[in-house]
Amino acid sequence: MSIHSSRSNVDVVIGMQDGDEGKGRFVDELAAGYDWVGRYNGGANAGHTISWQGKTLKLHQLPSGVQHEKTKLFIGAHCVINPEKLMGEIREVESHDLKVSNRLRISPYASVIQPSHIILDKITMRDIGTTKNGIGPAYAATRLRKEGHRDLDIRAAHLEEDFEWAMSAARANLIHERERWNDEIREEMRKGNMTADEVSVEKLMNDFIRYSKEIARFVEADPEMLIREWRKGKRILLEGAQAFGLDVTSGPTPNVTSSNTGVHAAFASTYLPLESSGRRIGVAKAIPSRVGHGPFPTEFGGSQSEEYCENKRHTEAWEREQYGDRIEAMLASDDPFEMGIALRILGGEYGATTNRPRRLGALDLVRLRHAVSANDLNEVFLTKFDMLSDFARTATGQVPVTNSYLRNGRKIQYAPTTSAGLYAAEPELHYLDGPTTNLSTIRSKDQLPSEVHRLIGDIEQRINAKISKIGVGPSREQMVNLKD
Ligand code: GDP
Ligand code: IMO
Ligand code: MG
Repeated sequence: MSIHSSRSNVDVVIGMQDGDEGKGRFVDELAAGYDWVGRYNGGANAGHTISWQGKTLKLHQLPSGVQHEKTKLFIGAHCVINPEKLMGEIREVESHDLKVSNRLRISPYASVIQPSHIILDKITMRDIGTTKNGIGPAYAATRLRKEGHRDLDIRAAHLEEDFEWAMSAARANLIHERERWNDEIREEMRKGNMTADEVSVEKLMNDFIRYSKEIARFVEADPEMLIREWRKGKRILLEGAQAFGLDVTSGPTPNVTSSNTGVHAAFASTYLPLESSGRRIGVAKAIPSRVGHGPFPTEFGGSQSEEYCENKRHTEAWEREQYGDRIEAMLASDDPFEMGIALRILGGEYGATTNRPRRLGALDLVRLRHAVSANDLNEVFLTKFDMLSDFARTATGQVPVTNSYLRNGRKIQYAPTTSAGLYAAEPELHYLDGPTTNLSTIRSKDQLPSEVHRLIGDIEQRINAKISKIGVGPSREQMVNLKD
């Protein structure tokens, strides 16, 4: 007999599309039932919004369980941590009278994002439109395995075990990259894209040392701590950042993030036993979005929208000012690009981390089906269902979805796996009847109109999974449980 407990006490929440599905709001809702909530990938590139009683918090590195003071918080091995931003976030959350410092533990294997990584991201990774948080270079360092003082990966454990060494390695990396990219840095400064502070070795190192010291006390030296907690029967919820569509291995390279984002990554990042896996929840949003460059076959307005959303001038305030008085006319327009802008304004779809306009598109059931099977999801939550009512006022009056693609004129039932392949694929759009009334005050499934039940049934059948909850608004209570 195994000496281990065989309880399936570990549940995982992942995003099924290209990010911002509303993972955070569901983790926030579920967290009360868990002893631990952990983040297992990514860093400050994530932005998870939680809303309750009229208050809103945007979390980047802390798990979305912060609201529940009895829940302990864990940052997993495959995360990359920005010390200054993490400390800023802790202070922000604590300003809401929620204590964090006494319940946060960081895996000793997590990596620290160094000042040089952020400079590298800003200077060398502009093509894919990253969040400029140093994510790619920090993950690259974990793979380079250099010795000595340069290009080294600094792990959280180093902050605890060999702080002086870690800081001198970060300084050597910074001086090296600062010199190597000097011409490019000057050019960016000339264009007003970078400030002197952002590249000052002394300023960056002073801050890095200060905040690294502060986060060192959260580092858990014992790599088995969480495993022991599980053995004791503690319940654990693991939250994915980014989403399965941005997975570094299976997403459309190079337009992906730098971490593995799916369910398997949750176990790789915590070393919790596979037998502990219980609920595997995928979160998708009824009108999917993408930020940054990259293929998005069902995008409203296609490449015109992609280019438009990259323009820094097109902020939320600018769009509201420009189009505020003709939103309904744009929504009803035959031009999907215009309809997309109207949907974005109505849905408040702007990045939680970078504030960029989110590109919007039709629900892609092909990619959802793949997310279900590749992650063995046993539950699906659909957010922003309330937004589907806006389609009633569009030119077709119906909800667009895609269930197959055309590739070189041939129908295919899977999404191509490279960026070029996905750009070349043509989605076949279908139109389904959707809600025509405001759903935001509905709380029980019996109150949902019959067309909503039909639409949900249709989607379930096409993605091979049951939808157990739908979101009808951003707040915690704006949710309809379909199982009751
Ligand atoms: P995450 O990164 O997956 O946690 O998602 P984000 O927080 O970045 O983006 C989701 C956005 O949708 C946030 O502004 C949420 O407040 C909002 N949201 C989440 N669920 C719903 C919903 O059911 N309806 C509406 N209207 N908004 C929602
Ligand atoms: P959450 O957790 C949406 C996108 C970036 C860019 C690409 C690579 O809120 O869903 P990176 O900074 O990770 O190297 O950028 O990935 N991206 C996200 N898009 N939501 C996110 O996080 C994202 N994190 C990264 O826009 O296209
Ligand atoms: Mg987000």
